[in-house]
Amino acid sequence: MMWRSLFSSGSGCALDVARVTLTWASYMTNSPTVIVMIGLPARGKTYMSKKLTRYLNWIGVPTKVFNLGVYRREAVRAYKSYDFFRHDNEEAMKIRKQCALVALQDVKAYLTEEGGQIAVFDATNTTRERRDLIQAFVKENAFKVFFVESVCDDPEVIAANILEVKVSSPDYPERHRERVMDDFLKRIECYKVTYQPLDPDDYDKDLSFIKVMNVGQRFLVNRVQDYIQSKIVYYLMNIRVHSHSIYLCRHGESNHNLEGRIGGDSELSPRGKQFAHALRDFIEEHKLSDLKVWTSQLRRTIQTAEELRVPYEQWKILNEIDAGVCEEMTYEMIQKTFPEEFALRDQDKYHYRYPGGESYQDLVQRLEPVIMELERQGNVLVICHQAVMRCLLAYFLDKGADLPYMKCPLHTVLKLSPVAYGCKVDMFYLHVEAVNTHRDRPLDKIPKDSALIHRRNSYTPLSSHDQVKRPRLYSAGNQPWLPLAPTPSALMPEGRQSQVSAIVTGSPL
Ligand code: SIN
Repeated sequence: MMWRSLFSSGSGCALDVARVTLTWASYMTNSPTVIVMIGLPARGKTYMSKKLTRYLNWIGVPTKVFNLGVYRREAVRAYKSYDFFRHDNEEAMKIRKQCALVALQDVKAYLTEEGGQIAVFDATNTTRERRDLIQAFVKENAFKVFFVESVCDDPEVIAANILEVKVSSPDYPERHRERVMDDFLKRIECYKVTYQPLDPDDYDKDLSFIKVMNVGQRFLVNRVQDYIQSKIVYYLMNIRVHSHSIYLCRHGESNHNLEGRIGGDSELSPRGKQFAHALRDFIEEHKLSDLKVWTSQLRRTIQTAEELRVPYEQWKILNEIDAGVCEEMTYEMIQKTFPEEFALRDQDKYHYRYPGGESYQDLVQRLEPVIMELERQGNVLVICHQAVMRCLLAYFLDKGADLPYMKCPLHTVLKLSPVAYGCKVDMFYLHVEAVNTHRDRPLDKIPKDSALIHRRNSYTPLSSHDQVKRPRLYSAGNQPWLPLAPTPSALMPEGRQSQVSAIVTGSPL
């Protein structure tokens, strides 16, 4: 473990290595990133970690959470009391540090061997000592680091958080609300003794971070380094902790649905109109008076919304996936006219792009503003289309590889409500018959490791003589093959050239 020797020896040689690899990490835009959470217990760190991870995976950036509590429970099976978290409990402090080191090793494996691009280190990380240790680790491995600190001093928010997620924590199998509350508040006090918040004006002024204050009331953003960090900031500034429900459904059955044609802009069938009426009754029965209604700009969703007799908003980006040259064809017609295209789509439906049209991957990118708005809004009903509904649902339910095969039948409303770290789904079939437009994944086309196929999103640019496409992690602190053109040293200021060339020429790291 290279990074251990860095801490134990403190040798100049090891620190040189850290400097060299840091230079490489800041040269490469796509260096893997470690997001480091900071904050006292019950400040929503796990909530943010999980949600951010779900979002990043959805937009195609392979991300995983490493929760230190999980490692601690592995090491110490039976949690007794807050006493374990006292800063003067030396034995426990040793165990806790060891757990952090093991977790960081897993972070390293994920980012260098398993195709991960972002690791979220979900722990309190409340001391400078711990954060310095993490920084040495990221430098050693040529990762980037972005800190997310959650600061909250509202006792009601903290109590609500303890009741919502800590009472059901494996630390408290007896789930006794009062005892959990009492022990957890004492645990927080233990951390307060040594807590050193990020200091934007002095000690931490050069770090990249966001401070989230009182659940998103205010933010402090410092030294955002790259595109992905700005996406992280953008996302964290949009999410809200509020109780709301999102209702998703497709338009009523259309004439094209009846004929088995995809795409187009056809009108509702008679049964489609019946569904629109049933949807109006549904809204009335459920007393969804403060509901916002969104449609696409295609006639079948607009006609469905018109029947509701409520104001609604049209979004072009909610339009159905563009099937390009296959628009308005049936699957049989596509198979006959474009047999190769048909087979290609079956092989990898997520990435397959219709000639002149879109892929599911494209659609996810197109729908990102809708997700961001759904995070901000109260109750919303989205009347959309099969592929669009699959993409939206995949975000809320954290579905990856199965996304293009998720079942979203016509005339069915899904109600999504946030609960603890996830999302509860209620399904309402409105009892108006409709054709089935779902096509299962062909049995002989189930990929062995679909997660990997679907999730790797970035390749190192072709700058080597051999012009071979390589996965991104080729650049993640691994030594590039020679020659690289142009070499990073040619683009660097004088003082940094030798550091980089040490990597380019393959000097031992
Ligand atoms: C835990 O053990 O539950 C979390 C430890 C920490 O992050 O301080």
